[in-house]
Amino acid sequence: MTNTEITDRIQQLKKEKNAVILAHYYTRPEVQDIADYLGDSLGLSQEAGKTDADIIVFCGVHFMAETAAIISPDKKVLIPAQYAGCSLAESITGYDLKKWKEANPDGIVVSYVNTTAEVKAWTDICCTSANALKVVQSLPHDRKILFVPDKNLGSWIMKKTGRHLELWEGDCCVHARISAEMILEKSHEYPEADILIHPESDCSHDERILNLPQAYMYSTAGMIKHANQSSKKQFIIATEIETLHKLKKDNPKKEFIPIHPQTICGQMKKVTLQGILEALEKEQYVVRVSEEIRKRALKPIERMLTIC
Ligand code: 13P
Ligand code: SF4
Repeated sequence: MTNTEITDRIQQLKKEKNAVILAHYYTRPEVQDIADYLGDSLGLSQEAGKTDADIIVFCGVHFMAETAAIISPDKKVLIPAQYAGCSLAESITGYDLKKWKEANPDGIVVSYVNTTAEVKAWTDICCTSANALKVVQSLPHDRKILFVPDKNLGSWIMKKTGRHLELWEGDCCVHARISAEMILEKSHEYPEADILIHPESDCSHDERILNLPQAYMYSTAGMIKHANQSSKKQFIIATEIETLHKLKKDNPKKEFIPIHPQTICGQMKKVTLQGILEALEKEQYVVRVSEEIRKRALKPIERMLTIC
């Protein structure tokens, strides 16, 4: 089957089954183009809660589809790429948090949304890269805070808020490769460009980068908003490479320079058009979360969604 034939069949099945396709900006361009809603982690969580479709086909990695299943238990959530994982979500377990809670009964656990349902079940409040500062600023000052699992995002929050956080030793294997040296080198090459950096990056808390007047830290959706609204013509993009697809589509006259051609999340690329078609045809792979864990995991997500 050609891509056009696959796309036509997907559209037909979507109508027949009242399904909606949600996709993250890091998925393949052809997957982004077929999505009913394209977004970052925060936008996708919000959309999963709003949709009145019967089936959500979640084009992203497993923790994202699981978050949709937690928020929308009355919907069938399908993940076309059953084994699409994430180095952050895999770096911590619910048991790790249970032990921390026992040792710190008054402590607050803030979990990045890039975590499993089991980890969320032991969490007090979730955050995404789009709302992490607001979430941490909302917390009482007299309590110990554990931030999991991204040490780079956590270090950036500490710099920006002045709050002390205990950090977990996790990172995103894609953004952790974005160093301060890479940013400085590219900024010399393109002195007129704004530099848009994801806070999961290794350089997000480096003073040399924080002091660059043309550097901005953003979630993926924040980068797109900045580029769409700016009068600048050149942007260095320090995040997953597929974000350039949407940036270029929205701004055909502006130039987007990837920080490195290998800034690729292979897990996100596991979602293909063929996989989406099979997901709709066979109603696979259903994302399941036990009701006991789901109810507990929902609370920190809801707390986050009321703040942003
Ligand atoms: P955002 O979607 O919040 O920009 O996070 C990026 C990411 O790495 C998601 O896995
Ligand atoms: Fe996980 Fe990083 Fe891939 Fe996002 S880009 S899904 S944080 S490994």
